[in-house]
Amino acid sequence: MQALPFPDPPLKDGFVLLRPWRRMDTQQRYEGFADGLCQRFSSPRIEPTTEADVAAAYERNEQERLAGEALNFAIVDAARPERVWGAMSVYDVDASNQRAAIGYWVASWERGRGVATRSLRLLARWSFARLNVERLELTCAPDNIASARVAERCGFVREGLLRSHLRFKNRRRDTVMFSLLPGELEQDR
Ligand SMILES: CC(C)(COP(=O)(O)OP(=O)(O)OC[C@H]1O[C@@H](n2cnc3c(N)ncnc32)[C@H](O)[C@@H]1OP(=O)(O)O)[C@@H](O)C(=O)NCCC(=O)NCCS
Repeated sequence: MQALPFPDPPLKDGFVLLRPWRRMDTQQRYEGFADGLCQRFSSPRIEPTTEADVAAAYERNEQERLAGEALNFAIVDAARPERVWGAMSVYDVDASNQRAAIGYWVASWERGRGVATRSLRLLARWSFARLNVERLELTCAPDNIASARVAERCGFVREGLLRSHLRFKNRRRDTVMFSLLPGELEQDR
């Protein structure tokens, strides 16, 4: 497998900027992800995420990048790139099937300002152009209305419900599957 390159120059739109994580982000990364909604929708474990879990993620993220599986980004304030607003990843990169998935969270104090929507547009466009994918997938829990709105605003199409799709918080959980094909990206919905 080929290592995945980070975008150079970094993806940005004048409001958000997507850059690689830095060790000095650990506290902000932890504080953003420790919030109740992130734990509810983005952490499959029952046990709350700890700062040590977050500190351990950097090495795993780099291994995933070197293996050609995933790129993990910090979403930051484009005007002050040291300020972390959230996270976005392109993961499950499947080169042979030209397919990948995108996931994200935004810190509670930055929600509702278009941070996720803008970041998703940037990363989806780049993934089609540079990762040679022909299909992007986005999955969320059936009751994750905000995440579904982000997907739909970017043009993702709701394909259906995957019943008993994954193990989540020690139970089976259904998943809504969205997909985006080249040419479907919406800029201002
Ligand atoms: C999903 C999430 C990333 C959205 O981030 P965000 O930066 O606030 O998203 P945006 O501002 O770009 O857009 C949010 C959209 O969801 C809507 N929304 C937000 N909270 C909502 C709620 N409780 N119910 C219904 N819609 C909601 C907003 O109104 C907006 O849609 P609109 O433009 O049609 O009004 C954020 O809520 C989050 O981090 N949630 C916890 C983690 C998570 O669920 N990650 C995704 C896992 S699949």
